[in-house]
Amino acid sequence: MTDLNQLERDLLTQVDAAGDEAALETVRVSALGKKGSVSELLKTLGSMTPEERKERGPLINGLRDKVQTAIAAKKDTLAEAALEARLSAERIDVTLPVPEAPEGRGRIHPISQVIEELTAIFADMGFSVAEGPDIETDYLNFTALNFPEGHPAREMHDTFFLAPDEKGERKVLRTHTSPVQIRTMTSKAPPIRVIIPGRTYRHDSDQTHTPMFHQVEGLVIDKQANIAHMKWVLEEFCKAFFEVEQVKMRFRPSFFPFTEPSAEVDIQCSRKGGEIRFGEGTDWLEILGCGMVHPNVLRNCGLDPDEYQGFAWGMGIDRIAMLKYGMPDLRPFFEADVRWLNHYGFRPLDIPSLVSGLTS
Ligand code: DAH
Repeated sequence: MTDLNQLERDLLTQVDAAGDEAALETVRVSALGKKGSVSELLKTLGSMTPEERKERGPLINGLRDKVQTAIAAKKDTLAEAALEARLSAERIDVTLPVPEAPEGRGRIHPISQVIEELTAIFADMGFSVAEGPDIETDYLNFTALNFPEGHPAREMHDTFFLAPDEKGERKVLRTHTSPVQIRTMTSKAPPIRVIIPGRTYRHDSDQTHTPMFHQVEGLVIDKQANIAHMKWVLEEFCKAFFEVEQVKMRFRPSFFPFTEPSAEVDIQCSRKGGEIRFGEGTDWLEILGCGMVHPNVLRNCGLDPDEYQGFAWGMGIDRIAMLKYGMPDLRPFFEADVRWLNHYGFRPLDIPSLVSGLTS
């Protein structure tokens, strides 16, 4: 006859040892399943004499109840432990900083940002944006702009020439954005009010010069545009760009083949402790060249200088970006160093506008 006490000890030990719900189920089936050890014992009750049954029945049923109770209790313990394990595995530390989304982590290059700023300022004054190609004909880069053939000014530009084509024509990497003046005047009728931001190229490299750099050209052509208008436009631009109430500007006579008269413009600044501030101080900083469009340039574009006149200017974008944002060296602008970009770059959603502020 089966030793009920021994069986009970064995079963309860197995229940206790079950490490997870699957192991516990195996123990349950082995005891209480159809062919389980306890179920087999229960089946023997039918063939017992009433006396035997009276004695063994309560013991076997008692064993079954004990095993059932132990399994149920173990099941609860295992479920609790499983929940505990899951909760601690899935724990989130809500005090950790939220990582920035990819669209927030990207940076806008200071040049792109400054072009957006310029565009916002001049758009507010009624200017639209014109563009031209980086590879330009010698004619548009020089001749149409009143640089005579063989004139030393062509050398001054340290031009990159391309290999001559089959017609012997040597294209150039444009040395300034001024050829887009010609492209604009020959493709649309006055009144013209455009700015022309873009890449320009010269054979030059040091702390403040790179072989590729950026300029923004301005062009106004109509029947009355004069120097006073030009001064106003440039002054309004400088105040808005450098975000100061007042700027003092100095127009120094200069020479450019495509303007007459021509001037170079300095703005007043202070340079205390290596920091440049505008709208104060006794120093002057050159920021652009400008002038009244030369009658020969108008003629080269099919415009009658007795009917039309206007002004133009050209400014280095990199230079004004360095001045505004205190960047001492131009070369890292074009080295694609992510650490530099993280430091000097702008957040993608900080879109400059005169309404929300150029720099927020
Ligand atoms: N193109 C000149 C340069 O690169 C800059 C310039 C001067 C542009 C006077 C102009 C201007 O439109 O009127 O040095």
